[in-house]
Amino acid sequence: MLTANQIHDQINTYISGSFLVHAPEGLYAPIDYVLSMGGKRIRPVLMLMAYNLYKEDVSAALAPATGIEIFHNYTLLHDDLMDRADMRRGKKTVHKEWNDNTAILSGDAMLVLAYQYIAKAPSAHLKEILDLFSMTALEVCEGQQYDVDFEHWNNVTEQDYLEMIRLKTAVLLAAGLKMGAIQGGALQQDADLLYDFGINIGQAFQLKDDFLDVYGDPAVFGKNIGGDILCNKKTYMMIKALELSDDTQKAELDKWMRTTTFNPEDKISAVVNIYNEIGIKTRCENKMREYYDNAMCGLEKVSVEKEKKNELTNLVHDLMCRKN
Ligand code: IPE
Ligand code: IPE
Ligand code: MG
Ligand code: MG
Ligand code: MG
Repeated sequence: MLTANQIHDQINTYISGSFLVHAPEGLYAPIDYVLSMGGKRIRPVLMLMAYNLYKEDVSAALAPATGIEIFHNYTLLHDDLMDRADMRRGKKTVHKEWNDNTAILSGDAMLVLAYQYIAKAPSAHLKEILDLFSMTALEVCEGQQYDVDFEHWNNVTEQDYLEMIRLKTAVLLAAGLKMGAIQGGALQQDADLLYDFGINIGQAFQLKDDFLDVYGDPAVFGKNIGGDILCNKKTYMMIKALELSDDTQKAELDKWMRTTTFNPEDKISAVVNIYNEIGIKTRCENKMREYYDNAMCGLEKVSVEKEKKNELTNLVHDLMCRKN
């Protein structure tokens, strides 16, 4: 049984040995740039940890795990363009360092690379894995579409939001875990339980990401703070603020969401002030906790010895406490 850190090291070594920049450099240098910035590598680590519940040597699953990480990084190139985001992992985003077309085309190439790496999964389970991955990739696009649609809607409900983050974020963590379990030879019931576990931690993970977008330290978070507020993202915090605000607060939130020319700092601080007045921080933390608890209940039902699940339990706990 490997620790999460050992798995993290293995996937990092595998990824860094996998890419050589070659012609045309304009296509491949940005791919190398984003993949060598690291990031938490949470999706491949989860996949390999699920695999490791059933099989000792994870080397056969390193390629598909890399595929999941490349896919994730592809979504980031396009997401940063869609979200007008300038910073990621403490560095300029690809469309800022290069340009919009680069983020689009290098992103497209990464989607293809992701499939190539996932297709290296052991042939016994290949069809099932590719079907799951394709369904997931499409769901991520659906979630991303809702995410941008919601910027222009003023009646987004908590339920709409939770479904949107299930699609844009949680399904990828869930699919990674399930793909790991399938490759490891888990029973269907365990693979499904790990999928549900991934949905719960994925939803908690996105709630935390949205939380850090408001309350994080930019030097640690690696992204600019307040980006979601500037884009009128309908996060859990914004939806709750709209729901719980008094007339004056509601009018002010509405005004900021309608105004098109403003000083970014003014909008961010006005909205955060209202969040603080309403106590949004605690509400968001409670919601995260709900998903975290559900995840842990589900993990208990997975039919491997309790000690084998300790690493996963600790990793998820760290994710909930993370600052980046
Ligand atoms: C960022 O994902 C996008 C979300 C789904 C919130 P991560 O927070 O996993 O980003 P990295 O890979 O660690 O940078
Ligand atoms: C990202 O959500 C989800 C995907 C990339 C699919 P966010 O837009 O909140 O992610 P960050 O904050 O830019 O990493
Ligand atoms: Mg974004
Ligand atoms: Mg986004
Ligand atoms: Mg975010």
